[in-house]
Amino acid sequence: MLTVLCGIPGSGKTTWRLRNRPDDLVVCSDDIREELTGDPRRQERNSQVFALARARVDAALARGQDVVVDATNVTRDARRQWIKLAANHDTPCRCVWIECSLEQALRNNAGRDRRVPEDVIRAMAKEFAPPCVEEGFVEVARVRNGSRGDQRHERSAT
Ligand SMILES: Nc1ncnc2c1ncn2[C@@H]1O[C@H](COP(=O)(O)OP(=O)(O)OP(=O)(O)O)[C@@H](O)[C@H]1O
Ligand SMILES: [Mg+2]
Repeated sequence: MLTVLCGIPGSGKTTWRLRNRPDDLVVCSDDIREELTGDPRRQERNSQVFALARARVDAALARGQDVVVDATNVTRDARRQWIKLAANHDTPCRCVWIECSLEQALRNNAGRDRRVPEDVIRAMAKEFAPPCVEEGFVEVARVRNGSRGDQRHERSAT
């Protein structure tokens, strides 16, 4: 099973993953950015970052391991690469959409150590395209992320 997280920075993706998929292999674009450049915010080697992310997902799925992609995946184009990879391995690909208002994401972001610049979060919120099963996911689970520790779960047929 490949789980693809989707949500703007600060929405609560990593929080959800740690609570819900603790045993999956994690492929996280920020971590790879840090490995390659020394800084998770440096964007100039993004094509290499995502090539390495794809290679790691590919290798894990080939071993039959469950993987979670912890990245924003706000556009259809970004999600398509994961759906294709899972299809290559006949592995189901599920999307977990962490729904969070821009205001809440900005508040969450302001309250943590590793802060993403506000303009980056605003730009991603503008770019955001809601995920749907027609893209090729077996399921799109919508998680409404609140501010008091709860992450209410809801299934979506869209
Ligand atoms: N449901 C929640 N209850 C309490 N705190 C939360 C909740 N969701 C997220 N947070 C807090 O908000 C901040 C942002 O959450 P998190 O790091 O999971 O977001 P993210 O989507 O992974 O962001 P990024 O894309 O930048 O990695 C963290 O400090 C986290 O502890
Ligand atoms: Mg995160």
